[in-house]
Amino acid sequence: MAQLPPPPPAIKDPEVKFTQLFINNEWVNSESGKTFPTINPATGKKICDVQEGDKVDIEKAVAAAKKAFEFGSEWRKMDASARGVLLNKLADLLERDRIYIASLETLDNGKPFKDSFYVDMTATIKTLRYYAGWTDKIQGKTIPVDGSSFCYTRHEPVGVCGQIIPWNFPITMVSWKIAPALACGNTVIVKPAEQTPLTALYMASLIKEAGFPPGVVNIVPGYGPTAGGALTSHPDVNKVAFTGSTEIGQVIMAAAAKSNLKRVTLELGGKSPLVVFKDANLDVVVEWAHQAIFFNMGQVCTAGSRTYVHEDIYDEFVKRAVARAQNKSIGDPWDAKNEYGPQVSEEQFNKVLEMIDSGKKEGAKLECGGERFGTEGYFIQPTVFSDVTENMRIGKEEIFGPVQQIIKFKDMEDVIARANNTTYGLAAACFTQDLDTALEFSSRVQAGSVWVNCYNAQSVAAPFGGFKMSGVGRELGEYGLQQYTEVKTVVIKTPKKL
Ligand code: NAI
Ligand code: MG
Repeated sequence: MAQLPPPPPAIKDPEVKFTQLFINNEWVNSESGKTFPTINPATGKKICDVQEGDKVDIEKAVAAAKKAFEFGSEWRKMDASARGVLLNKLADLLERDRIYIASLETLDNGKPFKDSFYVDMTATIKTLRYYAGWTDKIQGKTIPVDGSSFCYTRHEPVGVCGQIIPWNFPITMVSWKIAPALACGNTVIVKPAEQTPLTALYMASLIKEAGFPPGVVNIVPGYGPTAGGALTSHPDVNKVAFTGSTEIGQVIMAAAAKSNLKRVTLELGGKSPLVVFKDANLDVVVEWAHQAIFFNMGQVCTAGSRTYVHEDIYDEFVKRAVARAQNKSIGDPWDAKNEYGPQVSEEQFNKVLEMIDSGKKEGAKLECGGERFGTEGYFIQPTVFSDVTENMRIGKEEIFGPVQQIIKFKDMEDVIARANNTTYGLAAACFTQDLDTALEFSSRVQAGSVWVNCYNAQSVAAPFGGFKMSGVGRELGEYGLQQYTEVKTVVIKTPKKL
């Protein structure tokens, strides 16, 4: 893990410039006139009110996206390479305004500014540029079918895509959703999370400035069951992509099935095992395991929230993991010396504290933390539990907070059985110096991503997604394009075998 240089000075009180709905390249109020507040989690105070989209607003946005997708529209007539130029232009504008956007993200989400600036903004810009490069490389095949005919496939855009975004990586998740969709020539309606709508709305202004035609991207903030529900059950939406809880993933899949069998990609929860074999190098693995769970205040779908440690090194590992957590600098997210900020909302703050309580009650050993930090905002002390077992709630449920569970194991058979004994299957990692151990673990563990001697080693070029109830489909990389295209088979009769 490389040390990053200090970020440039943040804009600590960024002006909020956009709070309306973005439909058909216009800023409009919600039809109902309703608004909702967005809160600064570092203080618990309101930042501003945002227009609240609901069913009628979603209907307007879907109509705009449908029109923009019609045969002969500006977007449909555009050369594939020109879509790449637009995506790169959007990336240029994000670079231009990077400090402002990273500041807005920290204000709305609470994550340290240095993470917003380096992690989130880097990932966002890279994702747009990566898919900008794909636009004119999305191609079908010619197929030697029997008889006298010429057969080829076209990878056509699916159409109107509804994209529902979570609050843990607000602007990055917008880029993960829109970049592959636009690269393939779809049109989209994005619903940001109600906790963190501000950076998505600012990005809408850059989408317009970049020159995307009206209706290609629409951004409608609002709540899940209302705006989100209207999007997932709309008969003119051809595909829905969602990142969030497994519970809502199931609701969305049901709504998609019932309305029109819209295509679905789901990126859901996890309870990912990080396994420390006895030959692992403790000098580095303690830090990896720490980052795996505490990065982004534990609000990461791939969080390494079951730390399995071989019994021979267990006590030493626990001692070092606790020392590392106690040494964490926590507080004001604008201060570059802090590694760690608040949970995103009061609801999440309460949920995590309740899970910590359940861990204490069910007999896990609280090694450190376990309480609120400070008196203002939604900060929680970095918390470590040892003597955790998988029948405890903290050993099996997603916590989505800064809480490390350290679990003892005996050998490969034991740890594989336990790692896989979960409804989730998003990520897994093992730490070992032995190639055979690494290969056996990687092939037997049920997870969409497996990391060896590292964690969260993600790249926009590599696919990402879950086994089992951690999701459906893959995002990112070339695999991500398949989720945004329909394959059309064309057969042309020829007078003779050619
Ligand atoms: P959530 O799954 O309810 O919300 C995520 C997004 O879905 C938001 O934009 C929300 O407005 C929308 N949504 C909610 N209900 C909907 C519905 N009926 N139809 C359509 N869209 C809907 O997640 P929430 O409540 O914010 O957090 C609960 C838990 O979910 C967290 O504690 C965490 O365990 C998990 N989570 C996982 C994430 C991930 O990255 N996989 C991200 C956020 C939350
Ligand atoms: Mg929810």
